[in-house]
Amino acid sequence: MNGVTDEAIEKPPEAEMLRSLIAARRSCRAFLPTPVPRATIEEMLAIAQGAASWCNAQPWQLIVTEGDATDRFREALYAYVQDQDFDELNGLGPKSDFPFPARYAGIYLDRRRETGWALYESVGIRRGDREASAKQAMENFRLFGAPHAMILTAEADLGVYGAVDCGSYLANLMLAAQSLGVATIAQAALARCSVFIRDYFQIPEHRRIVCGLSFGYADKNHPANSFSTRRANIADVATFIS
Ligand SMILES: Cc1cc2nc3c(=O)[nH]c(=O)nc-3n(C[C@H](O)[C@H](O)[C@H](O)COP(=O)(O)O)c2cc1C
Repeated sequence: MNGVTDEAIEKPPEAEMLRSLIAARRSCRAFLPTPVPRATIEEMLAIAQGAASWCNAQPWQLIVTEGDATDRFREALYAYVQDQDFDELNGLGPKSDFPFPARYAGIYLDRRRETGWALYESVGIRRGDREASAKQAMENFRLFGAPHAMILTAEADLGVYGAVDCGSYLANLMLAAQSLGVATIAQAALARCSVFIRDYFQIPEHRRIVCGLSFGYADKNHPANSFSTRRANIADVATFIS
């Protein structure tokens, strides 16, 4: 402890609201087909627009699908992926605009495995059943049944910091959605299909695909939405220097 107490400081109610919003958000892997009204989507985007970015460049841009456009994209994406030689299990793909992680080792590999197992267990897949796991991973390319897909891109010239800004935006967006009762899942899986997606949506060369995001209303009874993930302790992430 640093000897400074916060007793005299009254906690604003926003702190509790934000805490519960963050605690309630989780990635949704089964959606109802019910579309999200355009006004709600626009409100979500308006809230997320408050994200911080380096030099206030706001380098994020989005493609958002609605109605039949989502189904057309889902079908075309799924057909494309079925033709590819993807290694769904290790998840490392060569076709993303930003390089995928070189490897997950140590604690990162442990966390990755724990999350994967929790997902597979929730839908009744036994450990080591690679065929069933790969089938579940393919649900990424069905957008988990979501009525809307989003493709998030960054300006190429801004390099890695453009992607950092998009990460800041993505976090805001998922919380904004949560505050409006809309469920989301960020999908790096879609970034692996950047060649296809760039062509499909006519995304110019100077934009880099960061990730996809499927959203809609959660199917709360679906087993894939029944598990939650753990987080490390503060002591594992913060070093205080006094
Ligand atoms: C940038 C990013 C990309 C992600 N890509 C995928 C993905 O392709 N498929 C998937 O099922 N989950 C994906 N996720 C969701 C993570 O697995 C999830 O956020 C993590 O396990 C923590 O769980 P929670 O979101 O439920 O808190 C992604 C999350 C982020 C932030």
